[in-house]
Parts: sequence; structure tokens; C-alpha cells
Amino acid sequence: MQFYLENGPRRVNRTPLQGERQHLPSQSTTSASSRHKRSRVDFGVQAGVFRRTRFRLWHLISSSFRKPSLLMGISFDVTEQKQQEEIRRESEKRFRLVADSAPVLIWMSGADKLCTFFNLGWLKFTGRTLEQELGNGWASGVHPDDLERCMAVYTASFDARVGFEMEYRLRHYDGEYHWVIDHGVPRFECDGTFCGYIGSCIDITERKLSEDFLHSLGGRLIHAQEEERARIARELHDDFSQRLALLGIGLGQLLKTLPKSDVEKRAHVLEMLKGTKELSSDLHALSRQLHSSRLDHVGLVSALGGLCREISGKHKIEVQFIECNLPLEIPNDVALCLFRIAQEALNNVVKHSRAKSTHVELGGNASGVSLCISDDGRGFDTARSNPCAGIGIIAMHERIRLVGGRLSVRSVLMQGTEILAEVPLNASTNAAAARTQASGAWSIGMLALPGR
Ligand SMILES: Nc1ncnc2c1ncn2[C@@H]1O[C@H](COP(=O)(O)OP(=O)(O)OP(=O)(O)O)[C@@H](O)[C@H]1O
Ligand SMILES: [Mg+2]
Repeated sequence: MQFYLENGPRRVNRTPLQGERQHLPSQSTTSASSRHKRSRVDFGVQAGVFRRTRFRLWHLISSSFRKPSLLMGISFDVTEQKQQEEIRRESEKRFRLVADSAPVLIWMSGADKLCTFFNLGWLKFTGRTLEQELGNGWASGVHPDDLERCMAVYTASFDARVGFEMEYRLRHYDGEYHWVIDHGVPRFECDGTFCGYIGSCIDITERKLSEDFLHSLGGRLIHAQEEERARIARELHDDFSQRLALLGIGLGQLLKTLPKSDVEKRAHVLEMLKGTKELSSDLHALSRQLHSSRLDHVGLVSALGGLCREISGKHKIEVQFIECNLPLEIPNDVALCLFRIAQEALNNVVKHSRAKSTHVELGGNASGVSLCISDDGRGFDTARSNPCAGIGIIAMHERIRLVGGRLSVRSVLMQGTEILAEVPLNASTNAAAARTQASGAWSIGMLALPGR
């Protein structure tokens, strides 16, 4: 910085040098001068002059407006500042070029949560102008059913300054809603100052449609499988079991007619009678496994208790069943889903775990029900895909999804496995509503928002 001082009542007007811009005293300064003149108090007039790399500020000090007595000049070297501005302008130009040619929808917001930038991809997608989207304008394009969730994720992440990922429906220029996945990350200056977010969205409508199709197919297959299981279980119980029972009665009557002295024949008939009873009991077990009529008639608690006893007795594993705080009313689809999960998890314990003991816990409250099956067996690596694995766990996930619940599988090698299934009690209705909504017409609305 340099200072200049000039004395005397000389004229201080100077023609700006080439490349200089002159900042003349403003209107308010002049009127201030008049006021000063009237009151005969000393005052100053300022003028700034820019050169390419220099900013010079002139300050005229005088005892009255017409008689300047001193001219003071201050000169600042602004070369570095100008170079920085040039670099910033260049980098912004490059960013816009990249952002506008990227095949994604890009947005940026400031530290106040309001949006300050949308790339060409976004504007082409929504068919709206930049001015319409800026600030909170973009929110009018978000599906009304997704907006509250979207805002909650955005606000919470923003306040915590952490990245986020969310899926929502955004109105396309043709009026249809498309699913997008939005990744947002916080932006910071070099000195660590938070300056907002930058986000990119990808249209995932095709993927969502395929997922929905697969889910509905999965659901239909499970329903078809259940119906077929029930049919076979009925056949086994009502037809084959009855015929076996008649065979057993016939063999018993035959045994009675044989004289005690005919030891060989009696032993043979007794052997057949024993085989018939075993076959009948196996058929019963298979029938119960395929479709638990106990579940239909006496409910989930009794059916699960029976299953645990059966597995424990048959495979010589300790299976402890605990039930507490269970809500009175458990919808049939939820009960069947939990029963099937327990069945598959216990089969896995028998087949894979080498566990000594297993716990089955059924609990809940008014808002939901949970089922936990844990064993102390050898466990497995849940992160590694096993090419020999079947579809038991996949089917558990699919079943729980159909009733709007969630499933978690935790396993630690040599320590055991825990399968936890949780179902909110209004979830089956919710899931049905969600499915209808995903395929039906949506209403359009707008909300006033505090920020993105
Ligand atoms: N309780 C458990 N203890 C140890 N390993 C387990 C347990 N449960 C599952 N696993 C492992 O997870 C794999 C996947 O189980 P999943 O039930 O999906 O298929 P599967 O039992 O192999 O075949 P399927 O159920 O179709 O007859 C199993 O092959 C096994 O390696
Ligand atoms: Mg299995």
C-alpha cells in the first residue's frame, strides 16, 4: 500500500490513465458537501481509480468546498486478487461445461440450504427455467408423497454436514413422475468453511419398474407356493393318512386272528404294523411342515411351540421357545410369514449350525411383533456369497417384505447366528397401500419450504 499527499488549492481533477476507471463522488457525498459548506465545517471528497493491477483511492481534504488544501492518495496492489478472480472465473467456466455435459442432474445449494445452481441436464429433465428452480422452486417438482421424507433427509444431513443418498419421484417435463436417486455431499472452502451442498441425481425409473415387477412376481410365487403346499398337505392328511390309518386297523385285525403259536407270521405282521405307523407319522409331519393347520386353528404361539418341540425331539437339539407381550390380534399373513421364517431358520440350524442350543423368542407390543431365532453354532460369513447356498434366506427376505417388515441376519464365525424378523402391525395394510400407490395415479401438490 502506498500513500500520496499533495498540498495547496491546486485542481485535483486528473484524466484517468488508459485502462483506468474513475469512481466519482456519489450524489450523497455531494449533498453532504453542500451541507458542510453551509455549516462551514471541513470535509473530504473521495474518488477511486482502478488500473489493471492497482486500485488508487483519492481523498481530498479542504477547509471549504471550493478551496481544497490537501490531497491524499492511497494505492493498493491488487494483482494477486485479480489473478485469483481470473482463476475462479476460469474454474467456474470449466465446472459449468463439465456439469452441463454430464449425463446426470446436478444441483448446488448454499450454506442457507437454498439452491443456487442446476445444470442443463436438470433443466432439460424438468422442462423448467433456472429461475423457476432456484431457491426452493425445485421442490414443486418433487412428488408430494416423497417431499416430506426428502426434506427430512436433506435437513438432517445438512445440519450434520454429512453426505446423503435418497430416492424420490421428480416430475419429468412430460408431466410423468420419474424415480431418481440423489447423492448429496457437503462442500467446504479451502479453510474448512462450510458453503453448502452439491448433488447429482440419476433417473432410476427403469430399475424401479424392474424391481417392482420382480417383487410382485416374487410375491405371486410365494402365494402360489403357499396354495400348493396347502393343497398337498390336505391331500396327505385327508387321503393318504386316512388310507394308512385303515391299513393299520386292517393289520391290527389280522394280528388278532393269528394264533399265538404262529410266531413267525405274527412277527411279520407286527413289523408291517410298525412300518405303517411310522409312515403315517412321517406323513403327518410332512403335512404339518407343508401347511400348519395348527397355525390356522390355534394361532402362532401354539404353532411355533409345536414346531420347536418337534425339531428338538427329532434332531436332539435343545430348542427353547419364549413368548412374551404378544398382541392379541396378529393378522394371518403376518402369522404365516413368521411361522415360515421360524421353520426355515430352524431347518438351517439343523442342517448347518452344529449348535447345541437354540432360542426362539416371539415378542411384541401394540405396534409390532418380532421373532428372533438364535443359535450357538458355528456361524457363517454373511458378507461372502456361498455358491452352494440355497434360497432359504432369500425367501425369508421376500416373505417379510410382503408384509412390510424387515429381516436382519447376524452371524459370527464359531459364535452363532441370529435371525431377527420385525413386522409393524399395520404394515401389511401399509404395504398394500404402497403397492397401489406405486402403480396408480398420483395427486400433485406444492408445499412451502424453509430450504432444500
Ligand atoms: N444357523 C446357521 N448356522 C450356520 N450357517 C448357516 C445358518 N443359517 C444359514 N447358514 C449358511 O447360510 C447359507 C444359506 O442358507 P439358506 O437357508 O439360504 O440356504 P440353504 O439352507 O443352503 O438351502 P435351502 O434353504 O434352499 O434348502 C447356508 O448354506 C449356510 O452356509
Ligand atoms: Mg436353508
